[in-house]
Amino acid sequence: MKNVLIIGSTGQIGSELTMKLRSIYNGNIVAGYIPGAEPKGELAESGPSAIVDITNEQQIAETVSKYHIDTIYNLAALLSAVAEAKPQLAWKIGMGGLFNVLEVARTMKCAVFTPSSIGVFGNNTPKDKTPQDTIRNPRTMYGVTKVSGELLSDYYNIRFGVDTRSVRFPGLISYVTPPGGGTTDYAVDIYYSAAKGEKFVCPIGKGTYMDMMYMPDALRAAIEIMEADPSKFVHRNSFNIASMSFDPEIIFNKIKEYEPNFEMEYQVDPLRQAIAESWPNSLDDTCAREEWGWKPEYDLDTMTKDMLAKLKERFKK
Ligand code: SER
Repeated sequence: MKNVLIIGSTGQIGSELTMKLRSIYNGNIVAGYIPGAEPKGELAESGPSAIVDITNEQQIAETVSKYHIDTIYNLAALLSAVAEAKPQLAWKIGMGGLFNVLEVARTMKCAVFTPSSIGVFGNNTPKDKTPQDTIRNPRTMYGVTKVSGELLSDYYNIRFGVDTRSVRFPGLISYVTPPGGGTTDYAVDIYYSAAKGEKFVCPIGKGTYMDMMYMPDALRAAIEIMEADPSKFVHRNSFNIASMSFDPEIIFNKIKEYEPNFEMEYQVDPLRQAIAESWPNSLDDTCAREEWGWKPEYDLDTMTKDMLAKLKERFKK
């Protein structure tokens, strides 16, 4: 049995992760949310939920105590582009929030998963097959909070024995909850346009490669790393994971194989483009494969088939 608190359960990965955890564990799987972002539908009906504002340590502690929580999934964050518009808030949530979670975990003995990101890397990082241990010098507030978060999480593990674990997520692609304010969002939006039969206006330039991942693989990564035997860990915060890398032309041409009339034009957004160019083209995930058996299941083709089928079904209704 596992009792899990998901902070940020109504966000892009949160809602799907909460549902998945409820399908595999029979303990309390608590959907933490902030007022204004309440769980709805299946997420609200299938298990307990609680108001947990990550900037409020007391609220986290009370929920952990009430539901005998042993594992916290800390998914609260502002994504990269929106964090540039609100850097102070991004720090408050990303770092202040993480500090609160780690303090509760230290005193109440919880394991903690906090996603990191390809955003920890910067312009001086090797771009292709980016190694696990390399230069992390982001110039975005998102990246700054993620690097600092990795360091703080490792500190809590080494200094206090808190069981902190993390993966560096690439752009996550899903037909369930859309992302918001990220640099990789275009790779989700493009499927919505294709499924609706609309032309796609691409904010990222031709030739700009980034790592991406289909949500079922991302959910598995988040669950498998928390279940892994830590005796093989050399790393903890945070592991490179990878499944596919493409630029807008490659995903566009893949979609065209299934939707031959699909059209795309470029209107590059300078903010997102600069962020995208500072990120790796593709990550080397050897350490995750060796230390806890990470292995992706989806590639661009299988993801594209599934995304288009699911979205077209939805828009038909
Ligand atoms: N998907 C995130 C973003 O684009 C990266 O981790 O901000």
